[in-house]
Amino acid sequence: MEKFLISGGSSLSGKIRVKGAKNSILPILAASLLTSEKVELKDVPDISDVKVMLNILECLGVKVTRGKGILILEPGSLYTSEIPESLMCEMRSSIFLMGPLLGRLGKVKVSYPGGCDIGPRPIDLHLKGLISMGVKIQEENGCVRAEVKSLKGSDIHLDFPSVGATENIMMAAIYAQGTTQIHNAAKEPEIIDLQNFLNKMGAKVKGAGTDTIKIEGVKNLKDVSYTLIPDRIAAGTLIIAAAITRGELMLENVIPEHLEAVIAKLREAGAEIWEEADVLHVKGGTIKSIQSVRTLPYPGFPTDMQAQTMALLTLAQGTSVITENVFDGRFSLVNELKKLGAVITVQGRSAVIQGVEKLHGAVVKAPDLRAGAALVLAGLAAEGHTIIEEIHHIDRGYESFEETLKKLGANIKRVGAPAVNV
Ligand code: UD1
Repeated sequence: MEKFLISGGSSLSGKIRVKGAKNSILPILAASLLTSEKVELKDVPDISDVKVMLNILECLGVKVTRGKGILILEPGSLYTSEIPESLMCEMRSSIFLMGPLLGRLGKVKVSYPGGCDIGPRPIDLHLKGLISMGVKIQEENGCVRAEVKSLKGSDIHLDFPSVGATENIMMAAIYAQGTTQIHNAAKEPEIIDLQNFLNKMGAKVKGAGTDTIKIEGVKNLKDVSYTLIPDRIAAGTLIIAAAITRGELMLENVIPEHLEAVIAKLREAGAEIWEEADVLHVKGGTIKSIQSVRTLPYPGFPTDMQAQTMALLTLAQGTSVITENVFDGRFSLVNELKKLGAVITVQGRSAVIQGVEKLHGAVVKAPDLRAGAALVLAGLAAEGHTIIEEIHHIDRGYESFEETLKKLGANIKRVGAPAVNV
C-alpha cells in the first residue's frame, strides 16, 4: 500500500495550471457511448477514476487511445451492455452508464455502484427517472437489469437536485421519442459541460445551469472534439493549500465564477483572493474562524470542499461550525484530524471546530477522496512528520497530488509499504 510522507511547515508558493474537471470527464466519458463516431477529449486529468471508467468502456467494446491530457474514443458498435461487477464496484459514477447504454442498446445490466464511503448513496432518483421514460427495471442480487423497447420523453421532477440523476436522465433522453423535461435539476457547472458536449455532437439540450433542463430527442450523434472545464474542486483544494500554509499561489485555468461560494468563505477565513481573467491569486494570512459553512447543491458551498475547509479551520483563531447538508456520514475525517491535534465535536449534521495554534504530525488514514486531500493539507501545516495511509482514495481525483504540491515547495513524497522515515 502506498503512503504519503509529509514533513510539515513549508509555505507553498508558485504557479500551477488546473486540469480538467473530474466530475465533467466521468459523465462525458459515459455520454461518448451515445455515438458510434470518434470522440476527442482534451484537458483530461490523469486520475484513477478515469482509468476505471476507460477500462469499463473498453470492456463494452470502445477503442481507447490515450495521450497526455488527450483521449480518443472510438465507440463503434458496442458489443455488450453488461458492465463487469468488479469495475462497477470501484466507482459509483459508473451508474450513469445506464442512461447512454439504454439510449444506444435499449438494455443494460449494472451492479450497485461503489465509490467513496460517504454515507448511503441510493440510486432511487436515477431509477424513477428512467422508469418514467418507459424503462423496465429488475433488481436482483445486487444487480440492476434495465430494458426498454423505445425510450419516451417524459416530465420528471427530482425530489432532490441530484447531480448523477440529472446527468443520467439527460443522457437517456437524447434518443428518446419526444421531449423530456427535468425539473428541480442539479445546476452544477459540470452539468452545463455535459450539455455543451452533447450539443456539440448534435443533441438538443437546453437549460443546464437552471433548474429545468429540456431535451428534445434526436436520431443520432456525430463525432466531436471537446475541451473540459477546469476542476473547481481541485482549484479550491489548492486555494486552501495556500491558505493553510500561509503561502501564495497563482492558479491558472480557473473559472472564478464556479468558485464563488468557496472564495467568499475563504475570504471570511482570512485568505486574500483576487482574480485576473482565468487566473486566481491566493495569499494566506492569519486564519480566522467562520461562524457557519453550510454545504448545499450548487451554487451553494460544495460538499466536495467541506473536508478541506474543515482542515483549514482547525488552525483558525476561534470556533467555526460546518454543517453538511448533502451527504450523511461525511465527517469521517474528524477522528483523523484529531490525531493531528485538532479539536472538533460532531453534533448531528454539524461539526464544531475549535481552532488550535498548532497541529502536530501523526499517522492517519485517508477515509475517502476529499477527506484524504484534507488530511494532506493538514499534514502540510502540521509540525513534524505526517504519514497518510490509504492514498488510493486521493488518486481517484487528484492527478499526481504530491508532484503538484512538491512543485509548489511542499515536502511530500510517495512511498510503497513498508513505511520508511521521512
Ligand atoms: C456528484 C459528484 C460528487 C459530489 C456530489 C454532490 C460526480 C462524479 N460526483 O455525486 O463529487 O459530491 O455530486 O455535489 O459528479 N441521492 C438520492 N437518490 C439518488 C441519488 C442521490 O437520495 O438516486 C442523494 C444522495 O444520497 C446524496 C444527494 O442525493 O445525499 C446528492 O447526491 P448526488 O448529487 O446524486 O451526488 P453524485 O451524483 O453521486
